[in-house]
Amino acid sequence: MTGRIIGLGSYLPPRLLTNDDLSKMVETSDEWITERTGIKQRHIADGIEDKASTMACKAALAAVEDAGIDPSEIDLIVAASTTPDLVFPSIACCVQRAVGADGCACFDVNSACPGWVAAYNTVQGFIESGNSKCALVVGAEMLSNYVDWEDRGTCILFGDGAGVAVLKAVEDHPSNRFIMKASAKRGDCLHCETMKQPKRMDEEGFIKSTNMFMAGREVFKFAVTEVPALIIELSEKYGFDLNDVDYFVLHQANQRIIEAVSKRLDQPLEKFPMNIQNTGNTSSASIPILLKEMKDDGRLTPGKKIVFTSFGGGLTWGANYIEY
Ligand code: ACO
Repeated sequence: MTGRIIGLGSYLPPRLLTNDDLSKMVETSDEWITERTGIKQRHIADGIEDKASTMACKAALAAVEDAGIDPSEIDLIVAASTTPDLVFPSIACCVQRAVGADGCACFDVNSACPGWVAAYNTVQGFIESGNSKCALVVGAEMLSNYVDWEDRGTCILFGDGAGVAVLKAVEDHPSNRFIMKASAKRGDCLHCETMKQPKRMDEEGFIKSTNMFMAGREVFKFAVTEVPALIIELSEKYGFDLNDVDYFVLHQANQRIIEAVSKRLDQPLEKFPMNIQNTGNTSSASIPILLKEMKDDGRLTPGKKIVFTSFGGGLTWGANYIEY
């Protein structure tokens, strides 16, 4: 048995922060942000009604409706988030309560932006070993709570939101095809500390250092090198031709990264769907949010061959080849 995506749901909080809004907060401009990143606006959660856990619940309810399943069928929920509003319970438990799937297994994973990819592959492991028949794979992030709003190099990139896929165990579907990697020794260019570290509270600049730190140029180089190499490795491992892939659904981090990957793979940019202009980088939520958008506008239809791939803090990166 393999998990097949039978439903998708997403949620973006209503408040929009445009590039012009940002230019009133830090020294930047719509022109600079658009040219360097492709981003025009991002959705920002209020932290009251909308937090990582509540956005996850809203996206999950939409996904369950889209799949047309009864919540009692769900036997597993795995959520990915780097920006949870609760240390515990897990976001997966919050989702279980919201959708009404009492009793099923629930836990969260953290692999920074590729967290949803990690969650997807974890769920596939449960399904392929016969331990799950119907599962939710959740990505939910409130990056706006962790970025340094005085650092123009990072605050322009991120947005909030959640996306969820429903996976159902089916026969006669290709088994899960993926590669996941990490390189911790290269991880210093992207990190975010948690707040409660009493031994360090008096250290100069400590509070500031608890915001996300990102050396953008280094992350950029990592992404444009490792992502195409990983996709080529994936195609060689599983023996498929990149020309036969309908869509390369990349983590929406920067339009220029996506363009560079398209060039390096010698694949037309039309095969690289993007919504980064409207959402910014929503970390582990970006792939399911984009998949849902593609389903709604008719691009994602049964049988479509998709490579999805993500990269981020750790450093971590991963890719899958699926048939929708
Ligand atoms: N507005 C105007 N100027 C800016 C801004 C801004 N928002 N940000 C930086 N600059 C300035 C810099 O100060 C610098 O000025 P200087 O030359 O006088 O020193 C100049 O622009 C160039 O700065 P760089 O950082 O070199 O600009 P770059 O072209 O690399 O673009 C960016 C920066 C957009 C962050 C890019 O490096 C990037 O996208 N990197 C990848 C980041 C990423 O994908 N992260 C996500 C993965 S991890 C995750 O999702 C959690």
